[in-house]
Parts: sequence; structure tokens; C-alpha cells
Amino acid sequence: MDSRFRPVIAIDGPAGAGKSTIAGRLAERLGFLNIETGAMYRALSLKAIESGTAVDDGPALAELARRSRIELIPTPEGNRVLLDGADVSARIRQPDITDSASRVSVHPEVREWMVAQQRELGAQGGVIMEGRDIGTVVFPDAELKVFLDASPNVRTERRLAQHQQKTGRPAERDTVAAELHERDRRDRTRVNSPLVAAEDAMIIDSTGLSVDEVVERILALIRRPSAAAEKP
Ligand code: DC
Repeated sequence: MDSRFRPVIAIDGPAGAGKSTIAGRLAERLGFLNIETGAMYRALSLKAIESGTAVDDGPALAELARRSRIELIPTPEGNRVLLDGADVSARIRQPDITDSASRVSVHPEVREWMVAQQRELGAQGGVIMEGRDIGTVVFPDAELKVFLDASPNVRTERRLAQHQQKTGRPAERDTVAAELHERDRRDRTRVNSPLVAAEDAMIIDSTGLSVDEVVERILALIRRPSAAAEKP
């Protein structure tokens, strides 16, 4: 690839589709930054919980966001997240934050602030940005848009495996499946910037694919971006 080619690569999709893993691997291979936009919504929802701000109060949340410093520090293992200078990377992966981040993200005032920050983070190009609305709203002109999906069963299995790996304990399958289902429903049906594939996104169903296979498919698309136009 031309070493001056610094595209924005948007990866959107539902929870558990493998976005963070894939974005991290691609970033490593290409020497790009990986930006996990979900971590920003998570950090804001942590601040809301800590400050007693209601997750259904959009204007108050947006005001809270304007008074916050949320920094993403890309690393090969994922983003380190600093909230007002404090490392909250582990805390924001807890289940209470997973649930409240999805609630915080429905508010247009909050999204407006987030989108402005994310556009700045990606302005120089050379980024893999993952989230729910990157190809549709944040970077509608991204050089490559991928919508990464997987069957609900596989996404549940991946979440169970992650939980086991992180905590050394198994999680309750039904609880994990119900949580994923509810978050999907909320992310896909919200009025503002719902989770939906951009019209010009390449849809990759990772259900039967390994991480390496997904990474290779996306690398092939990056090397040959016009492939996006060949979609049926
Ligand atoms: O990707 P994640 O699970 O860390 O995201 C947490 C929540 O943040 C998710 O349920 C919806 C919201 N989100 C969003 O609305 N838009 C994004 N670009 C990224 C995340």
C-alpha cells in the first residue's frame, strides 16, 4: 500500500461481533490508530453514575460531557481510557456501565458532542474507528466502511468466553444472551443514529470466520478499496 495512504476505516456493528478485536489487529498490521468510540460513551456513563446524573437527562449529560476530558490511548491490547486524567479502562467494562452506556448514547445532545470529538480524533486519517455510527454519521466519507455482524448465538458465545477469560469464572448464559439482546434492541431502534449498516458498507458476517480470516478480508478490501463498488 502507498505509505502516504492514510484512510479512515469505519467498523460498525452490534455488540459481540468482534469489532474491537478486529480493529486492534488491523491497527497493528497497518500501523494505524484504533479508536474504540464505545469507550467514550462508557466513560461518560461512569461519570454520570459517579456524579448522580440521571441517564435519561440528555441536556444534563451533554453538560457533563462538555466538562469532561475523555482520552483514548490506542494500544495493541485495545484503548486505555482516561476520564479527567484517571485510568478507568477496567472499570468501564463492568456490566453496570455496559448497560448505562447504551442508555446514555440515545440522547442527541450527547451524540453531538461525541461525534465532534471523534471527528477530531480521526481528522488526520490513518485510523480504524469502531462503533455504531462511524460509517453513517461520524465519517460518512470514510475510505472503507465495514459492517461486522455475527449470529446472536455466536456473539453470546464470544461474550461468555471473554467473561471466563477475564474473571476465571463462567457467566450465566441466559443472562448474557438477554443482556446482548436488550442492548441490540436499544442500539438499533433509538431515534438518533441507530445502529444500521451504511448503504456503501461492506457487510462481513463473522459467524463462521476466525479473527485471522476477518482481518485478511478487510486487508484485501483496503488494498483494493474499489472492491466496495463491486458489491451486488
Ligand atoms: O462498543 P461498546 O459496547 O463499548 O459500546 C457501548 C455503548 O455505546 C453501545 O451499547 C452503544 C453506544 N455506542 C454508540 O451509540 N455509538 C458508538 N459509535 C459507539 C458506542
